[in-house]
Amino acid sequence: MRIGIVTGGGDCPGLNAVIRAFTKATLNNSDWEVVGIADAFGGLLQDEPYVIPLDRAAVSGILPEGGTILGTSNRADPFKYPVLNVEGEVRYEDRSSLLLSRLKEFAIDAIVMIGGDGTMRIAKRLSDMGVKIVGVPKTIDNDLFATDVTFGYDSACNIAMEAIDRLHTTAYSHHRIMICEVMGRDAGWLALQSGLSGGADVILIPEIPYSIDNIVARLDERRRHKQLFSIIVVAEGAKEIGGDASVVGQGHDAPRYGGISYVLENKLKSRINQEVRSVVLGHLQRGGSPTHFDRVLASRYGEFALQLIEKGLFGHITALQNGEIVPVSLDVATQKIKLIEPETCQTLQTAKKLGICFG
Ligand code: F6P
Repeated sequence: MRIGIVTGGGDCPGLNAVIRAFTKATLNNSDWEVVGIADAFGGLLQDEPYVIPLDRAAVSGILPEGGTILGTSNRADPFKYPVLNVEGEVRYEDRSSLLLSRLKEFAIDAIVMIGGDGTMRIAKRLSDMGVKIVGVPKTIDNDLFATDVTFGYDSACNIAMEAIDRLHTTAYSHHRIMICEVMGRDAGWLALQSGLSGGADVILIPEIPYSIDNIVARLDERRRHKQLFSIIVVAEGAKEIGGDASVVGQGHDAPRYGGISYVLENKLKSRINQEVRSVVLGHLQRGGSPTHFDRVLASRYGEFALQLIEKGLFGHITALQNGEIVPVSLDVATQKIKLIEPETCQTLQTAKKLGICFG
């Protein structure tokens, strides 16, 4: 058998660890071959298609490397593939049948698809068309419903936590309010975990629309207690009660969030007599080396993906549930995304009891 491995959607730390683990496990335990498909499915869908042979040398030394050696894209969707017309305008084509014929041409019998919710929805459609697919869930947003944790999330939380630590010393020295904007799309996991671990005073998440009055009250209270600085962590998808998320553009299949920290900064400036500054962490959260947790999780996912193929369990993803890696069908995995449920989320309740304001 010849197995193609592909990374789709945004990059995150740990992608290379999955590629390496899957390739090593396959070469060590079977007589199958592994090839990489470049730039999501771009490498197979372009005019001169190609695949990247993956042998032991190709995956050697990539465990600690961020990004993906295969390249990725959140636009190389075979069902909505962007092509430029002669006027230079983008139009979209369904290239799914082309993909099927290219898979045949390159003798690829099965695919391991590493990606987030968008990639898993593509995997589901391909699987419904008869492609033998196994999914591996990644995203710094941790919003995939079927798994307790996606890899990449722990690394991003650590990066954000370290940034918040650094903001503390400058906030403290200047008696300022520092706002730190983190990613996460519609989910507040990254903001909650990095804010709690970084000692934030206010955490704003998309799941709880905030009131400026409540934030101002919390900042005033801190000043009354002679705590002359404060740290606010805001998720990019957060919004004021009755307001909208701050959108900076349109992505392939969803709006691109960003800039809520500046919106908040301006509103707070008119309400409090204290300097306010904002930092948007942006793609820094997706860069660099994976943490120990993500390296282990990515390696376990990569090896388990091989087990799924060996058992013929196509149309499934690898998922972490209560410490064990288990298969979950793509049907179930793509039903919905996982958001914070404020009433039942233990971590959020703990944060509240520590005095963190959620707006
Ligand atoms: O899904 C991962 C993520 O980093 C989100 O947190 C963020 O909203 C989005 O991707 C940014 O996408 P892009 O890299 O296309 O700007």
